[in-house]
Amino acid sequence: MASKKKKRRKYRLVLPWNNPTVTSGTTAPKKKKKRKLKLKQLRKEVWFALAGVLAIIAILTIPRSVETKKLKALGYDKETIASIRELKLAKTLLEHEWYSDYLASCLKEKTVNTDYLELYTVISGEKYLDNTDFLMVNRLRDKGYEEDQILNLYENLRFVELTPLLTYDYLLIEQNYIDDCLNHPENSRSSFELSGSYSKPYEQTYPAVTTTDMLVNKHFYLENSYLPKGLTDLSMQCGAPGTQLAKEAAEAMETWAAGGRAMGVPFYAVSSYRSYDAQSSLYDTYVFNHGQEQADRESARPGFSEHQTGLAVDITMTGEEDKDFNETSAYVWVSNNCMDYGWILRYPEGKEDITGYEFEPWHYRYVGKELAQAVYATGMTYDEFWCLYLKPWSDETNIPSETILSSTDWHNILNPPEEEPETEAAE
Ligand code: DAL
Ligand code: ZN
Repeated sequence: MASKKKKRRKYRLVLPWNNPTVTSGTTAPKKKKKRKLKLKQLRKEVWFALAGVLAIIAILTIPRSVETKKLKALGYDKETIASIRELKLAKTLLEHEWYSDYLASCLKEKTVNTDYLELYTVISGEKYLDNTDFLMVNRLRDKGYEEDQILNLYENLRFVELTPLLTYDYLLIEQNYIDDCLNHPENSRSSFELSGSYSKPYEQTYPAVTTTDMLVNKHFYLENSYLPKGLTDLSMQCGAPGTQLAKEAAEAMETWAAGGRAMGVPFYAVSSYRSYDAQSSLYDTYVFNHGQEQADRESARPGFSEHQTGLAVDITMTGEEDKDFNETSAYVWVSNNCMDYGWILRYPEGKEDITGYEFEPWHYRYVGKELAQAVYATGMTYDEFWCLYLKPWSDETNIPSETILSSTDWHNILNPPEEEPETEAAE
């Protein structure tokens, strides 16, 4: 019985009059309305989607075009802006409003060192930056100079005017030095003169690093107990009786003097190693004869003389002892060839404001052939050269990157590293 009932229900016709949801004569308009509603809804959704896409495009492009506009306002052109974006520097440049023609050209060529970006903003005219400048900046930092002082120095001075700063104590008011340099525009590597004295001798002093390349001057001293390694008597052919030098320097002196003899310009050492006590009596004699101010221009105070290193000599021409050494033919040969024997003229003419001593054409210092040649190639005093290239760092945080250190190694001055051949793009 129950299954029959079910069957009947299953095959029952659904007609308008027995379907409460369908009313005869109203089907077509209702469907249309529904479709209209659906269409309206669809259009709305499409508009929303379109607006969304437009909003996303705007979000993505408006800041970029605002950024471009701002970079253009700073002075950068389209090509440079593309490089700036590649280097991801737009934010930094805009934040600090950094621009200079030089910075722009280095950015365009992508040769800029981004660790020193602000430095590029103060470079103008003929000046340019390379790794030696970055080494110099780090040396100035190590000396105590603040970033704004370094920018001021770089904005106003040439490299030749910056290196002497390394030999002086830290200058609180760097502007005085800048003004003095600007008043001496003719200063160069061959002559450097200042009106003020920036070297405050014997004020801040440090123990010398006692290697063959050591710097001993009015800031770096030797203990009174310091004795050179292997003090050796000079032969009669190259030294006055009793003259001695450290072994390596003594050998170099013999060869050098032999070279002079071979060229017909014989010379020999009249003074060489001097002990602390010997220097002390000598300095006292100078003070007694000329007063302390003049004595300090001519003679080192005990502990501060290169003669105590056993690596320095005062020479004279054989048979011409009465003449000033720079008036002799030996001087001409010696000053042009000393570097090839490992010696440097330590107190050159026109560099008194850097070395702190009057011109001493007779005083030479042994540093080794390669180093002597490099010092001559730069035209710097040894004080500057040592402070720039050889001085140990006081503060590790000031040491520049390995790339800068290796590219500015003083050995490269004579043997520049071969440029790496450009690698072909992989196919
Ligand atoms: N005359 C040099 C500077 C010295 O006394 O060492
Ligand atoms: Zn001397």
